[in-house]
Amino acid sequence: MDKRTFYISTPIYYPSDKLHIGHAYCTTIADAIARYRRLADYDVFFLTGSDEHGQKIQRKAAENGVTPLAYVDRIVASFKLLWEKLAISNDDFIRTTEQRHREVVQTIFQKIYDQGDIYKAEYSGWYCTPCETFWLERQLADGKCPDCGRAVELLKEESYFFRMSKYQDRLLAYIEENPDFIQPTSRRNEMINFIKSGLEDLCVSRTTFDWGIPVPFDTKHVVYVWFDALTNYITAAGFLHDRSKFSKYWPADIHLVGKEIVRFHSIIWPIILMALGIELPKQVYGHGWLVIEGDKMSKSKGNVVDPLGLIEEFGADAIRYFLLREIMLGSDGNFSRDALINRINADLANDLGNLLHRTLTMVNRFNGGVVAAPKEKAPADDNIIRLAQETAAAYEQAMEKNEINAALKEIWTFIGRANKYIDETGPWALAKDPAKKDRLDTVLYTLVEALRIVAILISPFMPQTSPRIWQQLGLGETLTGIRLNDAQRWGLFPAGTKVAVPEAIFPRIEEKEAPGAAEPEAPSVAPAAAASVLPEISIEDFAKIDLRTAKIVAAEKVEKADKLLKLRVDLGFEERTIVSGIALHYKPEELIGKEIVVIANLKPAKIRGLESQGMLLAASSGEKLTLVSGEGLPPGSKVK
Ligand code: MSP
Repeated sequence: MDKRTFYISTPIYYPSDKLHIGHAYCTTIADAIARYRRLADYDVFFLTGSDEHGQKIQRKAAENGVTPLAYVDRIVASFKLLWEKLAISNDDFIRTTEQRHREVVQTIFQKIYDQGDIYKAEYSGWYCTPCETFWLERQLADGKCPDCGRAVELLKEESYFFRMSKYQDRLLAYIEENPDFIQPTSRRNEMINFIKSGLEDLCVSRTTFDWGIPVPFDTKHVVYVWFDALTNYITAAGFLHDRSKFSKYWPADIHLVGKEIVRFHSIIWPIILMALGIELPKQVYGHGWLVIEGDKMSKSKGNVVDPLGLIEEFGADAIRYFLLREIMLGSDGNFSRDALINRINADLANDLGNLLHRTLTMVNRFNGGVVAAPKEKAPADDNIIRLAQETAAAYEQAMEKNEINAALKEIWTFIGRANKYIDETGPWALAKDPAKKDRLDTVLYTLVEALRIVAILISPFMPQTSPRIWQQLGLGETLTGIRLNDAQRWGLFPAGTKVAVPEAIFPRIEEKEAPGAAEPEAPSVAPAAAASVLPEISIEDFAKIDLRTAKIVAAEKVEKADKLLKLRVDLGFEERTIVSGIALHYKPEELIGKEIVVIANLKPAKIRGLESQGMLLAASSGEKLTLVSGEGLPPGSKVK
């Protein structure tokens, strides 16, 4: 049987400038969806490219004293380099300056003209060159472009017009009959209102510059850049040059686009297709914007984030993970370096990295690196097995709806549970007792099997990490041939496999304080005067203090108390609340996942009305304070 097909596209980006992290966000989402579908055994066609014509590019090239083609060639090379560094798995990269595309645009323009849906008239109105958009006087916002807020120019030129108005009712009916065509629903509603307010015929040619595809029957005109650009989706699918490919992949399953260009994709593009008698794409999905500290990225604000620098510093998978995990598809999301580092440290280094490291260390130490078959069972194992299956199922359901961050959340809940399983089963204790060898074998098997499943499930999101885990598990260099159903079945890890010596997949990032950062206020803990050591105590006295490692699982500010944080810590055997005076030294979010040392048998105390059930250890000197680390040990380990 032929495989199910799946066609996903990104917008084609303007090569007017280098791409920023917002563009990388869009392509990363598309890549994760494409990789997921390949994992689910679809035959995938994943397209990206560059939108190279138009007035904006022509002006940019002139400013730089080069031809438009020379200008875009250089920038398009930088796009391709970025996609390679970000591990983007596109099957094709379309450039609108290619001959194959020019032929398609001219063919369809001619066809629509021949059938009477394109006519000549005079255009008189406004134009936003950065957005390459025509506006009517009444649509402007305070005389500016209603989309980007920049200045518009008055145009008065002979143009060809596309009879969009003729298709208004058909389009509206189509959108109403196909609730999934425009997603999310908020965008769908916007589009319905826009269409209901009345569609004007669209100006689809320009004469005042020449960087575009000539209108075939009137070459002093070039085709309007959006008409040209949208057509890329059928060019690359083989509309004119490979009919069998076209009938295989068209209609596209998802055109993934930013929210501000949903209008072009769900109004102009479907009407072009209707005029041509071609089926409409199944879905136009408008994702939200990536903003910097709540602010739009722009050169003038100087807040443009270069994705290449970040990839260089943190690796592609960490950036991909952050973008996919932190932002809900469809909503705007914030990018900040602090949030990125927190995610790397908490989710990648701590949760995932530790699970792999602890597991492989134990297999190496207790079993000479060889994974033995599972033997003696206990209810805790069933728990993990059930959760593994539930996770794989919930993951599939979420990914079928493109709910990427929900899918990631499921995986991380499972990782958290597997880490807890280590603490509960205590393999290091089992290893001390030869009578418990069968139980130890089962525990270690359960853990490597859990990691095998995790490696498969994360592969669409972290395509470089997944094979590294695979290789450390001793399963080979790549996951070639592995499919989603391999993650849905428990027990496929081959017993007898020799694992590798673990290597950290995500080292913790320790950020030095940025120069010029605000001076901390006076410390909340008085520095101990080095010379005045307290009176001597006996070892028995010291033994009365029950010091334990613990992991911070939640942290928040205490209202109206500048110095206090309310922490939730995991002691392995239970969770507790600790109120601590460290708010001037640590932000709540950077504490999550930190492994610390606490006094577990301190009498509870009420602080600002909150019960603090213990105290954490911190060392301080002058204005500096640092938490005593219990890193790398399971919560609840004794500190002696
Ligand atoms: N060339 C047109 C698209 C033609 S598709 C037939 C275009 N190009 S663009 O380079 O300006 O933008 C491409 C995409 O990048 C858009 O979907 C846009 O939403 C997205 N983004 C630009 N800045 C962004 C963020 N800050 N955050 C997320 N996406 C952003 O429009």
